[in-house]
Amino acid sequence: MNLVDQVQLKLREEFSLLSNQAIVYLDSAATTLKPLSVLEAKMQFYRDEYATVNRSLYPRGQKATKNYLHTRTLIAKKICLTDERGIIFTRGATDSLNQAAQFLTQLIPQGAEVLISPLEHHANYLPFLALQKKGILKVVHLPILEDGEVDWDRLEKMDTSRVKALSIAHVSNVTGVEQDLKKLGNLCHNQGWIFLVDAAQSISTKKIDFDLMKIDFMAFSAHKMYGPTGVGALCIAPRFVDILEPLFYGGDMIADIDEEMVYQRPPFKFEAGTPPIGEIIAWKSALEWLEKEEVLLATSLMGDLQKSYRDRLSMIPNVELISAHHSTTMTTMVLKKGHPMDMALLLGQKGIEVRSGSLCALPALKFFKANSFLRVSLGVYNTFDEVNRFMDQFESTLKKIG
Ligand SMILES: Cc1ncc(COP(=O)(O)O)c(C=O)c1O
Repeated sequence: MNLVDQVQLKLREEFSLLSNQAIVYLDSAATTLKPLSVLEAKMQFYRDEYATVNRSLYPRGQKATKNYLHTRTLIAKKICLTDERGIIFTRGATDSLNQAAQFLTQLIPQGAEVLISPLEHHANYLPFLALQKKGILKVVHLPILEDGEVDWDRLEKMDTSRVKALSIAHVSNVTGVEQDLKKLGNLCHNQGWIFLVDAAQSISTKKIDFDLMKIDFMAFSAHKMYGPTGVGALCIAPRFVDILEPLFYGGDMIADIDEEMVYQRPPFKFEAGTPPIGEIIAWKSALEWLEKEEVLLATSLMGDLQKSYRDRLSMIPNVELISAHHSTTMTTMVLKKGHPMDMALLLGQKGIEVRSGSLCALPALKFFKANSFLRVSLGVYNTFDEVNRFMDQFESTLKKIG
């Protein structure tokens, strides 16, 4: 047995869904499965330790607050953000990006231009389009090469005199391309642009240094990093945390109400209302789990797994790979014969779970002149045996629908 399979097989024991059901799960870019420790942390909180956070002085409440706040500390550590005050708990990456777009309107002049790649997930596209519709800002496409990388030559020649911000996915959910955040951060810093990063696809596998990469706003979800659904974070650069006005008002965010509202210190001034406590505590377990030696090893081996089936796919006529050859977690393709949705449906009937459709990136479909994508994406639990099973079924199904 090779190293990938040895490591992954051990890890798989922690995912009861994989041991109890005959499935090959290849949709981790949409959402990852959850290890037992995450499920248990959530159950334990709601069953034995339930209390609300921040304002309860009884011991159970204090324990819940301590665990809850520790999630924030682990996030800060993970992304090398020295000032924890800029980490706001949200409902997920979509919520974070919507909030980031709203915060941006407090920082840039009316009608300013925002550079956005045409390959973005709708969550990093529509909030800006909606603000454009209201005449608050203007969306301008960041030039992108055929392979999904930033076109630096065209960018250099562009008139960017009205640009005030740039927003991009660290890793694209369509191409799997990883953008050079350090280079982009330096560009934004030198130009005086605000730099927003959608880290939904990269947070569980890539190293991110928020301070070093000069990021101003960064968004991600817990459920794509082996944690629960319904929670995520928006990380804000220290230079903005004190000056930004909250977007939500209510309990827990206010220190005094006099002639004026006196807000709590950040991040609390941005977190009105009772948060999803159990989910945030379970997220702490996911963050700890991600740092386990065997998980780090499995993550580092994902590239080998990816290469093995990608090489096979690239030799099949009528399959056009559109994702980057260096993507370590996903392969997206267009079928020249047969429809990706038929493929996904038929594979699903065989227990092989892949994604099809626009991948929530309609502008990307247009960019690649495609009508639908098929995406295969890996998690740390996938094995060579699984990708081989996928390939065998894929080839025989293609013959039927092509
Ligand atoms: C690149 C990217 N950004 C944002 C999102 C939105 O994440 P969520 O649905 O967890 O809010 C996704 C989800 O697929 C994504 O892949």
